[in-house]
Amino acid sequence: MRVMRGIFIGLAALAAACTGGNEARQAGAPAMGGKSLAPVADAALTPAELGLFRPLPARTDRDGQPATEAQIALGRTLYYETVLSQGHDVSCNSCHPLNGYGADGRRVSFGHKGQQGSRNAPTVYNAAAQVAQFWDGRAPDVEAQAKGPILNPAEMGMPDSAAVLAHLRGSASYRAAFAAAFPGEASPVTYDNVGRAIGAFERGLMTPSRWDAYLHGDSSALTGQERRGAKTFVAAGCTACHAGALAGGQMFQKAGAAAPWPSAADSGRYAVTHRASDLFVFKVPTLRNVEMTGPYFSDGSVASLDSAIAMMGRYQLGLTLTTPQITDIHAWLRTLTGTIPVPYVAQPPLPVRAF
Ligand code: HEC
Ligand code: HEC
Repeated sequence: MRVMRGIFIGLAALAAACTGGNEARQAGAPAMGGKSLAPVADAALTPAELGLFRPLPARTDRDGQPATEAQIALGRTLYYETVLSQGHDVSCNSCHPLNGYGADGRRVSFGHKGQQGSRNAPTVYNAAAQVAQFWDGRAPDVEAQAKGPILNPAEMGMPDSAAVLAHLRGSASYRAAFAAAFPGEASPVTYDNVGRAIGAFERGLMTPSRWDAYLHGDSSALTGQERRGAKTFVAAGCTACHAGALAGGQMFQKAGAAAPWPSAADSGRYAVTHRASDLFVFKVPTLRNVEMTGPYFSDGSVASLDSAIAMMGRYQLGLTLTTPQITDIHAWLRTLTGTIPVPYVAQPPLPVRAF
């Protein structure tokens, strides 16, 4: 982190030296090492600009099959269940707190016995609507994803799925809840069904915001600065990667598409596909709730959203954004901070432990 910061401060100082300081940059003067972007007009978004985005759906169903209430209720309980961890002290909610926008605010997460992982925990809100899960996309959907952390030695640390199922089968209330969620199955307490239930719950974790109100036609939902930020985001070309309902989450792209990314320790999607072209490629994250889910990037190396925006301009687009442009984009990103579905995410009473 200190190294990253040092590099970034170094670059910022270099840019300032090349442009004659902040005043010159604020006036939109071109900076060394990057093209500049002309200021956008302050106006409503055009249909072409609006067409790059979509309002959030209320839920994302799996293969068009809505989950049942019983599946959602079971998934909600399992989401908060620490019995799914080796030390009975970590749940999904430990690293993705639902009352904290679904992210833990740490650079990288701490799990079983306080072990540190190597990646920043993305938010679970709206995650189900992404093309794949994890920074490297190694799980196709939230159902498959949910089966990972329970057995991950650095996260919840259970030795194997049999140990998980032994706990759940030992509880009369879990046996009843699985039977209600997966009727007609002879033996419903399976590890696949743990994933299916948690996934069913996660598919309702959507956070519509003021941006959705604007997309639905309420022109008063955004201030002039926020509109300008959205137009700047489009004009800069951020939407080449961050578009659609999630402003991201739909594709994989290289970190450092226009200029070499400063920290290249994580090989990204290469670890999944072993294709040379996937080196340093990551899932483009959603920008929904981004104001609330720092620190930023897959390694959690950048604490400030303004710095993250500036780096994106520089390394993904070869652009040196001015301070006012960064401030406007930041203002628009804040309109993507949504409403937490408080009753939906309320922690249910957990079944009494049978051991
Ligand atoms: C110890 C902390 C920790 C725990 C516990 C944990 N996660 Fe995560 N979660 C992470 C980290 C870190 C990542 C990113 C890892 C990666 O991309 O390689 C992640 C990724 C995810 C993602 C992918 C999001 C995206 O945008 O790609 C989802 C969904 C998710 N976790 C849900 C869960 C669920 C459900 C549970 C409980 C079964 C859980 N997590 C438990 C830390 C944790
Ligand atoms: C070429 C594709 C591409 C373009 C263009 C792009 N991004 Fe990104 N963006 C990414 C990728 C990939 C990441 C994740 C990189 C990582 O974490 O290693 C990312 C991450 C981010 C993050 C951090 C989010 C988080 O939760 O950690 C922000 C903020 C962001 N982008 C904003 C922008 C803005 C603003 C622009 C335009 C100035 C932009 N991006 C242009 C691909 C792109």
